[in-house]
Amino acid sequence: MFKTRSTTMAAEPRPVPWPDLRQRSLQPELMDAPELVEQDPDLLVRTLKEIDRINQLLGGHRCTLQELEKLLGGQRQRTWRILDVGCGSGDSLRQLARWGESQGYRLSLTGLDLQPLAIDLARELSAGDPLHARIQWICADYRDYTADCDIVISSLFCHHLDDAMLDHFIGWLRQRARYGFVLNDLQRHVLAYQGIRWLTRWFSGSAMARYDAPLSVWRAFHRRELQAAFAAHGLHPQITWHWAFRYGVRGFV
Ligand SMILES: C[S@@+](CC[C@H](N)C(=O)[O-])C[C@H]1O[C@@H](n2cnc3c(N)ncnc32)[C@H](O)[C@@H]1O
Repeated sequence: MFKTRSTTMAAEPRPVPWPDLRQRSLQPELMDAPELVEQDPDLLVRTLKEIDRINQLLGGHRCTLQELEKLLGGQRQRTWRILDVGCGSGDSLRQLARWGESQGYRLSLTGLDLQPLAIDLARELSAGDPLHARIQWICADYRDYTADCDIVISSLFCHHLDDAMLDHFIGWLRQRARYGFVLNDLQRHVLAYQGIRWLTRWFSGSAMARYDAPLSVWRAFHRRELQAAFAAHGLHPQITWHWAFRYGVRGFV
């Protein structure tokens, strides 16, 4: 078994150096292995914090905010109920809360994640700031969540799903969202793969991030795959490329 601390680090799994990116990988990420997270909870916490930094430095939050701004279209007279699926440490919603405040939007924000550790971290990082303290955090699998919202958002979530689950998720968000959705995820591209492989190899303190970050790119989608998945539900979202190697998927339901 892969251990994350000290002596057994030699057993750390390594990303495939040059995968065939024409096909999505369905290799599970370490983050999705409950036994590994149980064995070393701190590993998941460190990885989620690194994902926050990647979102900040490599345009993840910018992608979500720009697409959401287009979806909202300047409508400030109502309160928008926004649900972030797979919210992790909650960074996207904290960014969104600040942005909404600065832009004069009334936002009611909820973060949903199946990992109790992620929800604990989101709560901890949001305490102490009155704006962030208003965000609601729920620990659940999205498949068990049945409340409505206006807009479903997600960041780096869709690539965790296999094709059948992506299909399920699109059907689910169509039911849950009353207005629309903004999903941000990676583009499966050789430069994205090699870039994040080397970045995390040099700079990451988390063995999980070093393995999962390139694998996430390999698990991610081409534009045409996203288009086909949504078209199967009669949806034809705008799919916009954002630096660095992100797709912003924006649509009305
Ligand atoms: C790569 S992290 C992204 C975290 C955050 N959205 C971000 O961009 O920083 C993916 C998150 O999705 C969550 N997740 C995976 N499957 C899920 C499911 N079925 N329901 C809810 N959350 C899920 C994981 O627990 C993990 O926290």
